[in-house]
Amino acid sequence: MAKSMHLTAFMRPVSLHTGAWRYPGSYPDANFNFGHIKSFIQKLEAAKFDAFFMADHLAVLNMPVEALKRSHTVTSFEPFTLLSALAAVTEKIGLAATASTTFDEPYHVARRFASLDHISNGRAAWNIVTTSNPDSARNFGLDEHVEHGERYKRAREFYEVVTGLWDSFADDAFIRDQESGIFFDPAKMHVLAHKGDELDVRGPLNIARPVQGWPVIVQAGQSEPGRQLAAETAELVFCSPRDLAAAKALYADIKGRMPAFGRAPEHMKILPAALIVIGDTVEEARAKRSRLDSFVHYDSAIASLSIALGHDVSTLDPDAPLPDIPDTNASKTGRAQALRLAAEENLTVRQLAQRYGGYAGLAFVGTPKTIADEMEAWLSQGASDGFTVVFPYLPQGLDDVTQRLIPELQRRGLFRHDYEGTTLRDHLGLQRPVNRFFA
Ligand SMILES: Cc1cc2nc3c(=O)[nH]c(=O)nc-3n(C[C@H](O)[C@H](O)[C@H](O)COP(=O)(O)O)c2cc1C
Repeated sequence: MAKSMHLTAFMRPVSLHTGAWRYPGSYPDANFNFGHIKSFIQKLEAAKFDAFFMADHLAVLNMPVEALKRSHTVTSFEPFTLLSALAAVTEKIGLAATASTTFDEPYHVARRFASLDHISNGRAAWNIVTTSNPDSARNFGLDEHVEHGERYKRAREFYEVVTGLWDSFADDAFIRDQESGIFFDPAKMHVLAHKGDELDVRGPLNIARPVQGWPVIVQAGQSEPGRQLAAETAELVFCSPRDLAAAKALYADIKGRMPAFGRAPEHMKILPAALIVIGDTVEEARAKRSRLDSFVHYDSAIASLSIALGHDVSTLDPDAPLPDIPDTNASKTGRAQALRLAAEENLTVRQLAQRYGGYAGLAFVGTPKTIADEMEAWLSQGASDGFTVVFPYLPQGLDDVTQRLIPELQRRGLFRHDYEGTTLRDHLGLQRPVNRFFA
């Protein structure tokens, strides 16, 4: 039997493609129209998606206003406010949110995810990020982003504290005995009393243990310390490999690190992000993609490339080859990928920028059949356990996936016909963690 895949929907903002809001028939205001977002998640749930993922950034995009003014990806809802509202209008689909280990505090993060997990009856997931946008620092009293290695050191300790706080109470601590008047058993409460290099948190958390024990742990950084953190802690990995070969190498590398931490590889699902554009023919799908890309102005394209490189390249000659770009304190993965692409395909600055302008990552562009073939190949060749789907424009691009691609995947036995359980851990086939203080 074919291996079945997991699918999450990348919804911050509703499309990551810079030109999405200009595509004919799309909802230009979708990022702030709750009615639209509600209809999207209900369609995703009807199609049995594992989760709706709300990424988060703590600043407007770090690009010049000439580019910023053209982008719908500049703004979107705060994840917890949105996901709490969406929890009330759905029943099964998982609700994943990003929270920053660099600019947030573990007590806040533990409470918010525990609350979302209770409100949604066990559907929450925490995407641990160290925050990619360096401009975020200026919104939190710092002149510069925290150094990359330091960010990951804090992230590791932050994870320890948050999961420790979730374990503050045993699952059966709240006896609520109306007769005796004892609400909870104090022997089943643990005071964390964490004092580490980075964090000092007493505890206990003022909320009962989450429905899932711990909300599902997600990790999205692919630098050396990012992979290490994933191998040690993550149950779900979001990533952006460019092609099948890169995905296989990443998959083998991260899963290969797990046994050193006493973890089995099947306790982690790796879901590369993929833009999916569907047509009646491959040519038609490619024409849709080209049309979508045509809505991206060069000012936006060069700004997106600058972000990927962590370096302002807007003053370079657009028609010359890309010179060597020094390493920075920004994302390591983006710079390495852009430099490799430019070298491999011998691209000018303009050509490379055009690739980055709309959506630079992996794309499946074709018919439901050709895309299912590609996805099946990725699964069977050990490149992924499913995908984080990026929609090209909404609602049509989402309807194409839920109404045309999902039935094709189901027909092949590659995707569920219905949810088998109720929690996100059930959907992903993940164990409920035992309480480290009350095993
Ligand atoms: C699917 C996906 C989702 C991501 N979501 C976020 C996010 O919500 N917020 C954020 O700051 N970074 C996000 N990132 C970026 C990563 O957290 C990380 O900064 C980036 O991959 C670079 O990793 P590195 O710093 O380990 O090199 C995401 C990356 C991927 C592939």
